[in-house]
Amino acid sequence: MMASTPKRAHRDPVVRNLWALQELALKHDVPDEVKQQIDLCLEVVNARDDYCDMKSSSASEHVTSLIEQTQNHPWSDLHKAGTIPFLHSGMISGKLEGNFLKTIISLSNAKKVLELGLFTGCGALTIAEALPADGSVTSCEIAPYVKDLARKFMDKSPHGKKVTIKIGSALDSLAELADAGEKYDIIFIDADKDNYLNYYKIIMDKDMLTARGTILADNTLFQGAPYCHNLMSDRAIKLGQIIRDFNDFVEKDERVYQVLVPIRDGLTMIRRRSDVEGTS
Ligand SMILES: C[S@@+](CC[C@H](N)C(=O)[O-])C[C@H]1O[C@@H](n2cnc3c(N)ncnc32)[C@H](O)[C@@H]1O
Repeated sequence: MMASTPKRAHRDPVVRNLWALQELALKHDVPDEVKQQIDLCLEVVNARDDYCDMKSSSASEHVTSLIEQTQNHPWSDLHKAGTIPFLHSGMISGKLEGNFLKTIISLSNAKKVLELGLFTGCGALTIAEALPADGSVTSCEIAPYVKDLARKFMDKSPHGKKVTIKIGSALDSLAELADAGEKYDIIFIDADKDNYLNYYKIIMDKDMLTARGTILADNTLFQGAPYCHNLMSDRAIKLGQIIRDFNDFVEKDERVYQVLVPIRDGLTMIRRRSDVEGTS
């Protein structure tokens, strides 16, 4: 991950700043012990990520293979050829976040899950593995290419049959599901950031959570952009502002209780306040 991630796009602003410091130290007359200390800081941050991964249970054989095949897929060539929109392997939720999702699903006894943003199916299949035999995941995806790829990966697993894919804009699919009166125990928001607030408003205003349901919104730290602008591309700054507005809106929404967990690129867990605090 570290080697292939462009320096400006690494999701941890601490790493981006340490890389910048490392480059500065090489250009200037900096004592070796300072350079070594910078290298050590980078090593520590990377080692922490690796350690969390190592000390979390292995993903299933099918999810592991799906992650590997996603990492080795020729995303950039397909994008250049015009076959797919801009998609890359870094979009996958991956093992650590997958383990987190799986744990949430199992401890909440969820049966019906909605995912916005399927990509290659890592989150959907991991969630499906934690659901009972009559549980279901509906996942909304706009790109037909990844829908086909995810279906192929997921069909290799006995849990794949629990996943239904809705192709098209997640906003349209969500509105359609809301109009049909569908409700979900867990809703995982992980599609385009521009619409996070729209997704949230539909879910809350149209009452799409079951009693004691939970929204999980991914990337709510968005590479540090909501709270730290330095060394970011203009696009990341724009998306960071969108996520910051989303986070601010949720924070001020009296209906809900939320916690922003700094796992990977940030995951906010949002529940009805009355479900968390009870009544006196
Ligand atoms: C970060 S990835 C999802 C990762 C996935 N949840 C996982 O667990 O690996 C985001 C996905 O959302 C899809 N997407 C982007 N805009 C969308 C939209 N407006 N409607 C539906 N899907 C969209 C992208 O094509 C991409 O596959």
